[in-house]
Amino acid sequence: MKIEVFFSPSQIDDLFLRDKNVVVIDVLRASTTVAVALKNGAKEIIPVNTIESAVKVSGNLFGDVVLRGGERNGKIIEGFNLGNSPFEYTPEAVKGKSIIFCTTNGSTAMWKARYAKNMAVAGFVNISAVVNYIKELHDDLYILCAGKQTHFCLEDAVCAGMIIKMLMDRDDVEFDFNDSAAAAYTLYKNSSKNLLKLMRSTDHGKYLLEIGFEKDVEFCTNVDTVDIVPELIGNVIKIPKNNLPEKPHIPISIDTNLIKRD
Ligand code: MLT
Repeated sequence: MKIEVFFSPSQIDDLFLRDKNVVVIDVLRASTTVAVALKNGAKEIIPVNTIESAVKVSGNLFGDVVLRGGERNGKIIEGFNLGNSPFEYTPEAVKGKSIIFCTTNGSTAMWKARYAKNMAVAGFVNISAVVNYIKELHDDLYILCAGKQTHFCLEDAVCAGMIIKMLMDRDDVEFDFNDSAAAAYTLYKNSSKNLLKLMRSTDHGKYLLEIGFEKDVEFCTNVDTVDIVPELIGNVIKIPKNNLPEKPHIPISIDTNLIKRD
């Protein structure tokens, strides 16, 4: 089983991922938010790579079944309904809604993987569900980390390394890594003792702490709290019909302090 990791979408072009199995990771916070939104009953997530696209797509969809969610510099985009804190995506806010999703790096990575044969969105919150999904594919895997403005993000790399470690917990498969996959695996082995301490020390983790999203950093570090696999189906991200959750994620109380508006 070949596993290749890319630390930023800028390292590949869209067509490279065509017909491949892809996992997109943006631990802080897009992957986490997408998992919570779908667990809490959102109909689908439509990832876009620019705010202009978000406005255009929402113009084509209409009525109160559409929300625009996303951030720039970690804070809600003016004119959007939701930012990118998972705490905003409660069942009351998102149930039945199509969410046009535009974040600085995460939604762009998801959009970049739109030609994949299979694509799943992973964070720590749903890592076991995604690993089980990958195992069922019995095929090579390409892990695309969202990074931050084309730069390396430690939290995404460690999450990629944890996925690799969990896949290796089986002795019936030979693995073939690219250097980035080997590096991610090593980073995970050296960092897994205290994930929260690590997350609070990363560039983006420190920035989120600075702008008041401490609870988000903690929540995004919780392993396996959201047992679903957001999958690319057509050109949207959703939960396949046969995997719909019986009940929403434990509703998270909205702490208005967490929702930063300019
Ligand atoms: C991203 O997409 O870069 C992140 O999710 C940004 C954030 O919400 O902090």
